[in-house]
Amino acid sequence: MESTLTQAEPFCIVKNLQVLFHGRNVLQGIDLTLSGNGIVVVLGSSGSGKTTFLRSLNRLNECYPGYSSSGRVNLKLSGTMSDINHSDLPLTELRRQVGMVFQTPNVLPTSIAQNISLPLKLVTGLGKSEREARLVEVLQEVHLWDEVKNRLKDNAFRLSGGQQQRLCMARVLALKPQVLLLDEPTASLDFKTSHKIEDLLIELQEHYQIIAVSHSLRQARKIADQILIMKEGRIEHLLKKEKFEDPKILQKLLEEIF
Ligand SMILES: Nc1ncnc2c1ncn2[C@@H]1O[C@H](COP(=O)(O)OP(=O)(O)O)[C@@H](O)[C@H]1O
Ligand SMILES: [Mg+2]
Repeated sequence: MESTLTQAEPFCIVKNLQVLFHGRNVLQGIDLTLSGNGIVVVLGSSGSGKTTFLRSLNRLNECYPGYSSSGRVNLKLSGTMSDINHSDLPLTELRRQVGMVFQTPNVLPTSIAQNISLPLKLVTGLGKSEREARLVEVLQEVHLWDEVKNRLKDNAFRLSGGQQQRLCMARVLALKPQVLLLDEPTASLDFKTSHKIEDLLIELQEHYQIIAVSHSLRQARKIADQILIMKEGRIEHLLKKEKFEDPKILQKLLEEIF
């Protein structure tokens, strides 16, 4: 009997991706197809290549000396699968569509408002009133608006760690990305603030394709729809939710790699 269920379309296809720094192989021929909805969480021991993998999805590795790579990465952008290395896709446009938030909040040394407005002006060229509207919209989206609406001119460094990280997320969201890469976004935050960010990510997954590196099994189980486990520059496992709902199964797999 013919099944009425159709396979979800992939949003990320990686073929034989190798990344080297100064001739040393860091990603060892990754083949991966990601499809479905929800957050993909990347787990793996330190040095297993998680950050390098994320950076290969928006070509950020190219910023580092000694980098070379081979293989292909295709992402679904504006509804179609695009080769991220294709000359039709300018680098600034790729990085706008595939936004990244880092482990430590990296606010710009300027006001809260300018943290959103400056990159918006540089990348999109939007006018002042549109930028102001977008600013309110994204600060509301990350639930920061009420906390900062009366101090938009304050230096962003005066915000707490969790507020700074939400500001960094708002700065990326202001550019209307489609894919959101998060590299251990709660690593520098306390438990309570981490929970806040996790709840935010669960909300944001409705609108963005999220791929997040995590250092925490608890966090992965809370937010992930799929878990990708990396070891020594390779993908060891790609687990669907039903596989890690039983914590014992996941624990066992992780014991193999840590
Ligand atoms: N810019 C770089 N230059 C040289 N080596 C790098 C660079 N980035 C990562 N590496 C190396 O690649 C390996 C994987 O690093 P990384 O992707 O940061 O791992 P993880 O995020 O899983 O801790 C490590 O051995 C690291 O030293
Ligand atoms: Mg890392």
